[in-house]
Amino acid sequence: METRIDEVADRIYRFSTYVPRGNTGITFCQFLIDADQPMLFHCGQRFLFEGMVQAMRKVRDPATLHWIGFSHGEADESGAMNDWLALAPQAVVAHSRLGCSVAVSDHAIRPPQIVANGEVFDLGGKRVRFIETPHVPHNWEACLLFEETTGTFFTSDLLTAFGECSIESDGGDVLTPAIATEEAAGFTSLGPKTAPTLRKLAALKPRHLALMHGPTWHGDGAKVLDDLAGYYDERLRREMAA
Ligand SMILES: [Fe+2]
Ligand SMILES: [Fe+2]
Repeated sequence: METRIDEVADRIYRFSTYVPRGNTGITFCQFLIDADQPMLFHCGQRFLFEGMVQAMRKVRDPATLHWIGFSHGEADESGAMNDWLALAPQAVVAHSRLGCSVAVSDHAIRPPQIVANGEVFDLGGKRVRFIETPHVPHNWEACLLFEETTGTFFTSDLLTAFGECSIESDGGDVLTPAIATEEAAGFTSLGPKTAPTLRKLAALKPRHLALMHGPTWHGDGAKVLDDLAGYYDERLRREMAA
């Protein structure tokens, strides 16, 4: 398995590994926000850790990582959290009060930094806003991240598509493959707050959508998130009527 490196926005690096698993396989992406206080978003699974470290060395010394973030507790999000904490002696995991309470404070080898909903961290050259999104895409403690200087929204599992994806997409259709994957796998905790949460995220007006399992998409991110909300509205009505 090869971990690819692509700069998908100014000093936002996407590390992607295609893992042939099941019928289609799936691509796992992790992101380095390169700043005075560099931040890794998504720790990745432990089996990807060594390859990821070697890849990151081509961009920046991983031992200089300052912040570690992820959406929710799950192998591809937080599996290698402690490996990163061991490698980068000053690194701190940043997560919500709820996330720290239900998972991180117990799982991490060092105390995490509790972040308020909507709080912005100035990383020095990059500014990241933490947004609590309970059960979106899934897990009570789910959070998502928006980098303000580039307009990059890190979507975690939102818009997941199975298979080996393209690296970047300039306005291409990410919705159709994502809906097909959702219909097949049902990975989102669908409920009455799913679509309203997506519409709040659309208000960020992102210019780049950095998917965990898909390309980094460039264009009118608000429209994609609004359209995704429309799909979940329809699906909720459909499932309630079934
Ligand atoms: Fe997930
Ligand atoms: Fe994921």
